[in-house]
Amino acid sequence: MELALAEKTACDSLASNFIDSEAYEAFVKKSVEDLKSRGKSLEGARALDLSCGSGRLALGLAEAGCSKVVASDAAGPETAAFQTLLRGGIVSVSLQIEGEIFEKREVTWKKPSRDRVSFVEIRVAEEETAGVIEKLRTASGGDGYDVVTLFCGMEKSRDPKALVEVARSLVRQGGTLFIGYTGAWNDRIAPASKWVGGVGAGGPTVGAALESRLSPMGRCEESGWDLEVVVRDTARKTSVAVVRVETFVKAEGAYTNGVKTGGEEDVTMSGAGEAGTETLQWKEEGEKVAMYERTAMVQVYLDMHFSPETLLGVENFPKACARECGDLARELLLDSSGGPRGGLRVLELGGGVGRFAFEAARWASEVWGSDYSEAFVKAARGVKETGVAEWGVVKAGGLREEKRACLKEDLGIGEAERERVKDFIRVDATKLDLPPSLLEETKTEAGAFDLIFGGNLIDRLPDPLSFLQKVGGMLKKDGLLVLSSPYTWLSDMTPREKWIGGREVDGKAIRTESALRDLLLKEGGDARGPRCFVEARPPKNIAFVIRESERTFQRTQSQRTVWQKTQ
Ligand SMILES: C[S@@+](CC[C@H](N)C(=O)[O-])C[C@H]1O[C@@H](n2cnc3c(N)ncnc32)[C@H](O)[C@@H]1O
Repeated sequence: MELALAEKTACDSLASNFIDSEAYEAFVKKSVEDLKSRGKSLEGARALDLSCGSGRLALGLAEAGCSKVVASDAAGPETAAFQTLLRGGIVSVSLQIEGEIFEKREVTWKKPSRDRVSFVEIRVAEEETAGVIEKLRTASGGDGYDVVTLFCGMEKSRDPKALVEVARSLVRQGGTLFIGYTGAWNDRIAPASKWVGGVGAGGPTVGAALESRLSPMGRCEESGWDLEVVVRDTARKTSVAVVRVETFVKAEGAYTNGVKTGGEEDVTMSGAGEAGTETLQWKEEGEKVAMYERTAMVQVYLDMHFSPETLLGVENFPKACARECGDLARELLLDSSGGPRGGLRVLELGGGVGRFAFEAARWASEVWGSDYSEAFVKAARGVKETGVAEWGVVKAGGLREEKRACLKEDLGIGEAERERVKDFIRVDATKLDLPPSLLEETKTEAGAFDLIFGGNLIDRLPDPLSFLQKVGGMLKKDGLLVLSSPYTWLSDMTPREKWIGGREVDGKAIRTESALRDLLLKEGGDARGPRCFVEARPPKNIAFVIRESERTFQRTQSQRTVWQKTQ
């Protein structure tokens, strides 16, 4: 079964809003506290939720005591599901587990408070702002709303400035506007001229631009908070947005309706993409360049590998994997004297920009880093040569913030470790035709390594089976193959017929974890596999975080498996 992208996105967000709904519950709780601190309440309030999507926040506001909640958005699969829920119906959601394996779940919302919620379809664009404001004001049954929420809506809107103007106009005097944003603008959704802040070097931040556009509403400085919104993409992979929520209050008597102030960004609009402020977009669709050769990808992986910061509280992935491999090597590759057998020789395949190799050099005597991407290999070599990694992180509006890490000072990787990393080379893991430089150094064509690591690799290979069939030949007897993968199969990377798991065959779901056993274990059931391994340790999860921009991340659980060659 393959869901259309729009349908899958709607399912993911419905599931995250209604099944893993912590963010929405936290939003309502925080807004209640915020209002209380200013002597206000949701009790009996009239609320408007702009950009309501599947309506979870609107339903939460009604549940928290609002007497009337108007939820509005453009028509789409999410708002269609919301209307079904409002009618008391059942929405069936397909959650992606792995590849083409899905789990069906049902979502309902039977609470009586839903009778206080209504949906109004709108299409926000500059030329239609007045009509939209009128429609929503009429829906309020009065002169506007006590509380207006605009949560994660600006970045999805074709006209964020118009949306903010709608929000501003509909807050009653004395009312409160909560705006939640990431500033991860996307020029395929809205042109830069419509973004609210975060445009051009030296331009206002999103917070400052909002303050200026919403004037004379005041921003409550002390009440801003960060909220983690998690959308489940597969059973192992999530998209995480750290949303900044700001509160604006329209003081009694301080507002002249219809007077538009601001215009702050117009001054700096031309700054986007100026020299020295390279614009980075995380997803460069339609580009001819292979994904892992793209400049933006190199930057993202340099950040993931070499940033000394701990992102979302998760330990650096290549570092954690190298420590894990070191522990496994000590436990499983000891000689009779208790020491490692004559110095360990390690190969990493699909290693990206190389952090694992430097970390593994803490316990191995010789490490070879490799990847198929020329750009990644070049970046890794650059770090080895200079001892320094330099990259940029996408800020609001696609601007980049320069980052830098020294192997020695920032990451504790000394000259000796750097020396033990022999080289970074280009190797196709599905062919394993090692270059002459490596064959010469290792003095052998096969059976050269004590440990081979492939992190987040097998689900990115065009032919994973070919890799599994060949990789054992590169290991010494008793050598370890350590794999780690979230099994995020994508037909763009691996043709569907080559997925080793994440498939339904004859109505039976084949998970990658068991497919690996069938192929690799000596007594495995799949004759196509090398079947020359034992599983030396039970599987274990190792998390990783990829920072897409300042406030948006992917957080994934990669499953590490350990295979020891028996012959
Ligand atoms: C998801 S990234 C993982 C990078 C790194 N191991 C990590 O976890 O940060 C997948 C890597 O596989 C590499 N790759 C894709 N096809 C490959 C192939 N045929 N042979 C070797 N590496 C390949 C990509 O270039 C990319 O670096």
